[in-house]
Amino acid sequence: MKKPASASDPLWYKDAIIYELHVRAFADSNNDGIGDFPGLISKLDYLQDLGVTCLWLLPFFPSPLRDDGYDIANYEDVNSSYGTLKDFKTFLDAAHQRNMQVMIELVVNHTSDQHPWFKAARLAPPGSPEREMYVWSETDQVFKEARIIFTDTEKSNWTWDEKAKAYYWHRFFSHQPDLNFDNPRVIQEVLKAMRFWLDMGVDALRMDAIPYLVERDGTNCENLAETHAVIKEIRAAIDEDYANRLILAEANQWPADVRPYFGDGDECHMAFHFPLMPRIYMALRQEDRLPITDIMAQTPSIPNNCQWGLFLRNHDELTLEMVTDDERDYMYLAYSADPRMRINVGIRRRLAPLVDNNRRRIELLNSLLLSFPGTPILYYGDEIGMGDNIYLGDRNGVRTPMQWNSDRNAGFSRCDPARLYFPVVMDPIYGYTAINVEAQLSDQSSLLHWTRNMIALRKLFQVFGRGTLRFLSPANRKILAYLRDLDRGDGSHETVLCVANLSRFAQPVALDLSDYAGYEPVEMLGYVPFPKITKTPYVLTLAQYSFLWLELHPNDGVTEVSGEGLA
Ligand code: GLC
Ligand code: CA
Repeated sequence: MKKPASASDPLWYKDAIIYELHVRAFADSNNDGIGDFPGLISKLDYLQDLGVTCLWLLPFFPSPLRDDGYDIANYEDVNSSYGTLKDFKTFLDAAHQRNMQVMIELVVNHTSDQHPWFKAARLAPPGSPEREMYVWSETDQVFKEARIIFTDTEKSNWTWDEKAKAYYWHRFFSHQPDLNFDNPRVIQEVLKAMRFWLDMGVDALRMDAIPYLVERDGTNCENLAETHAVIKEIRAAIDEDYANRLILAEANQWPADVRPYFGDGDECHMAFHFPLMPRIYMALRQEDRLPITDIMAQTPSIPNNCQWGLFLRNHDELTLEMVTDDERDYMYLAYSADPRMRINVGIRRRLAPLVDNNRRRIELLNSLLLSFPGTPILYYGDEIGMGDNIYLGDRNGVRTPMQWNSDRNAGFSRCDPARLYFPVVMDPIYGYTAINVEAQLSDQSSLLHWTRNMIALRKLFQVFGRGTLRFLSPANRKILAYLRDLDRGDGSHETVLCVANLSRFAQPVALDLSDYAGYEPVEMLGYVPFPKITKTPYVLTLAQYSFLWLELHPNDGVTEVSGEGLA
């Protein structure tokens, strides 16, 4: 008997709306300045109202927090600042009661140097089982072709350890030694940690930094066949014992290199589409659809049980690793005027500041996020247009406390403001007195209400999560137009036409919709019937940064509208 999960449909993740949050940043229940599980539980009503269906929690395990918890010191416990294992279970049950799935992090490429395995490894003799948990070398001249990821802080992927009298390997910070996946004991330990959480009922695992598990000299140590073998082993263990779970690959790679992480449907169920993300920003700034259509043309098809994970922003910098040198120069110029906004190979800013707090641009980007093929992932705070604090170090500027209301500390905590893990944003534009949940709940025209409506609308149409994509190619390149289509299986189709204006000025467009001659488009937010499609080009006019979602009805005079009206 496989252990069931909270979702009953094995493909639940295709229809999910994922919300990424950090327990530490969400709500503080005991007023010590640090968010915690009881605080998060108290905000589940808010998340349910927003309409998100899956909560992705950033690492909450015991950790020295030198990489915000991605430096794990114990895989099978909760960081005491955030609560106890019991609190986590209470949270998990409470989320499940609200029909929300829960995704947590499986960070197995590396541990903290404070993990007991590493402490033992440094002291153990070379070749011993303890030492072999990590990757050691007498010289730093091996694996020379592996790039450095944290270019601002690290000079080498090797660090000399005085106690061990050897170099240890690390793809990220030097305090994050990489585990040695050539050692079968490492895989056993990973599976044990994984089962610990899956047994408890966790629905999904984000597999952090997955391309770097195995290293071989003479290669760039990324995406190796040996790494894929490890992932297949992990997936097989899940399929053997657990029903309806999900693993999500964090593989920041070109589409052709990400494709193998789906395997034949026997590796990861989902993978982030990293290259698409910066190109959405590029298309917006250049007022040209080409960057988007170009990367989608390079995106291979994936097995039926697989899905892309789409995002506009997350807890990391807007990474520019998967763009060309020219594109990178352009992005830095267009989106990071102040050098402080840059980190490593990317830009550390939130969604609203990236688009100059322009509401129309925020809505336009979200309309793409919610209508492109894949599962949308929202980053906490972006639903109210939170700002960032570029004066905080590392990527912490986008990890400030959630802004609930205009009370002390944005309603996040009742503690002395000096005690907060990070200060709340206080500037006049994005500060918590201007941008907060309470104010936006009482304002019917707020971004929060808009986001909630769009999520609700998207959930009425399975075509967005499961349908095919076909771009139209109108002469006006400032217009991005595409058809999403889902064969319902009974001969009928759910077909949606999406049209987006990337320009800061109004634009006309003539679309070739002759395949749909006779159909009636119905605008989906307002259920407004549009003129019937004919064999001649279909002409639309779009205001600056506006978009249209039109459901195409094959009707003969009578307007049938699927779904229920949204107020
Ligand atoms: C992933 C995380 C990032 C972290 C890194 C190292 O890329 O998203 O936040 O710093 O892994 O663990
Ligand atoms: Ca607390």
